Amino acid sequence: MSSAAVRIRRMSLSDLDRVVEIAQSLKDAPHWPLAAYLPALDAKAVPTRVALVAEDAAGVTVGFAVAMVVGPQAELETIAVAAEGQRRGVGRLLFAALAEKLKLERAEEIYLEVRASNGPALGFYRALGFRETGRRPRYYADPVEDALLLALRLA
Ligand SMILES: CC(C)(COP(=O)(O)OP(=O)(O)OC[C@H]1O[C@@H](n2cnc3c(N)ncnc32)[C@H](O)[C@@H]1OP(=O)(O)O)[C@@H](O)C(=O)NCCC(=O)NCCS
Repeated sequence: MSSAAVRIRRMSLSDLDRVVEIAQSLKDAPHWPLAAYLPALDAKAVPTRVALVAEDAAGVTVGFAVAMVVGPQAELETIAVAAEGQRRGVGRLLFAALAEKLKLERAEEIYLEVRASNGPALGFYRALGFRETGRRPRYYADPVEDALLLALRLA
């Protein structure tokens, strides 16, 4: 699969089983229960969320991302690409599409928290231009670990 064959579209209810399956298969992805995605699919829900999936040429969902918008700030809540589809530019495509949608929602900056030991994600976020803005000591449990705060200007 090359990223050229990948299409980015809004997440829908019928995607959720696969989205949960992808997240569960990745130790570093947030393991949300299916119901946690529902507010992201509801255009009227507050706060506003943008939820996208990436699907391959065969129509198989290979990645997804969810972000929340509060005022001029967006938070990247989760982003994941199935292990077999990683390092092919899918995450980059997903994030670029997400950033465009967030700008339409008037977000000017996007921030996120990430486990300090999540080297692949840190490499990915740095490649996208994120900068470290802080550290939250012992933010995560199982195992206990610091969170790094990263941010990127969108506007
Ligand atoms: C983070 C993640 C979404 C990246 O998705 P991806 O589709 O593999 O990323 P891309 O192929 O678009 O990578 C874009 C760039 O990011 C950087 N990058 C991506 N994966 C990397 C890794 N494992 N190590 C170092 N840098 C990495 C590289 O610079 C890469 O460009 P290159 O391949 O030309 O060198 C994916 O690794 C993933 O799903 N991880 C598990 C879940 C997770 O940790 N999510 C984040 C926490 S919520």
